[in-house]
Amino acid sequence: MTAMDEPIVVGIDIGTTKVCTLVARVEGEHSMRILGVGIEPSQGIRKGAVVDLAAATQSVARSIEKAERSSGLEITSALVSLAGSHVSSVNSRGVVGISGRVIDQDDVARALEAAQAVAIPHNREIIHVIQRGFDIDGQDGIRMPIGMHGFRLEVEAHIITAAAATVENLRQCVSASGVEVSQFVLNPLASGEVVLSETERQMGAVVCDIGGGTTDLAIYIDGDVWHTSVTAVGGNHITADIAAGLRLPVSQAEEIKKQHGFAVEGEVGSEETFTVRTFSDDKPVQVSRKELAHIIEARVEEIFLLALQEIKRSGYDGLLPAGMVLTGGTSLLPGIKSLATQVLGFPVRIAKPENLVGLTDQLASPAFSTSVGLLYWAMLMSEAGSHFSGRDSRVKGATMDLNTLKSWLKRLLP
Ligand SMILES: Nc1ncnc2c1ncn2[C@@H]1O[C@H](COP(=O)(O)OP(=O)(O)OP(=O)(O)O)[C@@H](O)[C@H]1O
Ligand SMILES: [Mg+2]
Repeated sequence: MTAMDEPIVVGIDIGTTKVCTLVARVEGEHSMRILGVGIEPSQGIRKGAVVDLAAATQSVARSIEKAERSSGLEITSALVSLAGSHVSSVNSRGVVGISGRVIDQDDVARALEAAQAVAIPHNREIIHVIQRGFDIDGQDGIRMPIGMHGFRLEVEAHIITAAAATVENLRQCVSASGVEVSQFVLNPLASGEVVLSETERQMGAVVCDIGGGTTDLAIYIDGDVWHTSVTAVGGNHITADIAAGLRLPVSQAEEIKKQHGFAVEGEVGSEETFTVRTFSDDKPVQVSRKELAHIIEARVEEIFLLALQEIKRSGYDGLLPAGMVLTGGTSLLPGIKSLATQVLGFPVRIAKPENLVGLTDQLASPAFSTSVGLLYWAMLMSEAGSHFSGRDSRVKGATMDLNTLKSWLKRLLP
């Protein structure tokens, strides 16, 4: 169903708190109509990885069923999101000799293959090989080498790998519903496709998707992905802190977080209170909202400090004038933008999917950036199949095996 000549695209975002299957029809350039939506609470997924195969399979199956019912289409293949602390990334260079002739797609494929020759343990699977730029005979900054002359072609690639067993479990959850995973897409790369403007992508910006169980980062510079990371901390940790701090059941802590939560203690008036029923008391008790904000602030601050540490570790912290684009369900927390700005010391904006057409009632929320991003990703892939434009350069090398890569590059040739 996601075949290149069929303008229907499908994405399944398997998150820690929800599974979301979306079906869309591509309508013209860069636009699509959402035909089917299947949102299900997720079970058996923790910190982005499957911990209970049967439960996870069932959540995924229900989500797929709902999307099939609402779209009236049968789903046979889909792009699926991937996250979790088992994901890691490395930058690598690959060099090939050309001997002065014109560089063709096979040379590019060979260079990318050479870049993949970094030591990758057998228990890891390559998810993305993203080309960050080429160098021909020492001249760097080349975006599209095909058709140029040279003796020595060098590619700089960003390679994203994941634990093979974890990936296989996820694949099994999806294939149990008769749906083939056409490609896994790292969470922040899917979100980035939706929330970043072209200017931000070019200037340098970091996408930060804070969901229930993970915080995902992707750094974009000069229009390409330069660094990615996934940390296993998210909104569920805030809820757990509230439950422990106020001695409440987790479900109630979650409600209170959404209803009364605030990220900056100093901005909450000391007279503000709300009532809760704790484990020990029969009668409802009054809680100060400042106390709640105190608990929340400590955890959210930690999340941003970890993000900042990761950004600094990448070495690109000085190259992000456009700052951070924040998304994911936890970015709905009031006050989070101000706390993020304070901790990070650069501009922060909150983003969600915009200008959606079709069945979009629930989707205009930061929680669905990854889900919608999978559709954008699929759309770019199918568009790249029909004609080449500079924008597609991010995607065209983003496949994992060499044969797929070769056919990609062949399709991209004029
Ligand atoms: N109004 C709100 N205030 C604070 N937190 C919120 C609000 N609405 C949703 N959240 C939190 O957002 C989180 C879910 O976000 P999201 O749907 O992006 O996660 P996910 O994609 O399922 O998980 P992950 O990407 O981490 O695997 C939950 O922790 C939830 O409590
Ligand atoms: Mg998510």
